[in-house]
Amino acid sequence: MTPVDGWKLGETVFSEERIAARVGELAAAISTDYADHELTVISILKGSYIFLADLTRALTIPVRVDFLGLSSYIGAESSGQFEWNARMTTSIRDRHVLLIEDIADTGRTLLHVIDHLAEHGPASIRVCAFLDKPGRRVVDIPVDYVGFQIPDRFVVGYGLDYEGWFRQLPHISTLERV
Ligand code: IMP
Ligand code: MG
Repeated sequence: MTPVDGWKLGETVFSEERIAARVGELAAAISTDYADHELTVISILKGSYIFLADLTRALTIPVRVDFLGLSSYIGAESSGQFEWNARMTTSIRDRHVLLIEDIADTGRTLLHVIDHLAEHGPASIRVCAFLDKPGRRVVDIPVDYVGFQIPDRFVVGYGLDYEGWFRQLPHISTLERV
């Protein structure tokens, strides 16, 4: 792929085939855990859009989908100071909620969203993160379903971006300087 802004793709960390297999496993586990229930899936924009699409299409339970958007005030590193830029339009009162996130890094984003959702009286809240960097965690959050754990290295693809680029890759890749 043509380099963008001085960055090119490095090594493939998870192939398209490996991701598809793992997403299928997650969907099966979630469908089993919520059997006889319905689920309100809330996707945190923008990074989870591809994971959301694949995961929800593999679920075998009734599902509603809604979106939340938020960004950190300061730079790329999440600061703990958030601004909402998309809000849910679905009521989650007394509903089982599954939050979908691209990656759990420091955990600040998920903590902020969980606290926000808890104010709306859901029956339960669980978290599903496609990737998890446990070594980077600074706040304690429950991540109930994890696609893959990775060490502390920046990755792109399958929805994850660098400055908006590389989200469309079907696999997860590292970045390298050109
Ligand atoms: P947290 O609040 O620190 O957990 O930040 C999570 C957010 O940081 C994710 O939703 C991503 O947008 C971003 N992020 C963290 N690590 C990476 C990465 O390796 N690649 C792309 N985005 C990342
Ligand atoms: Mg994100």
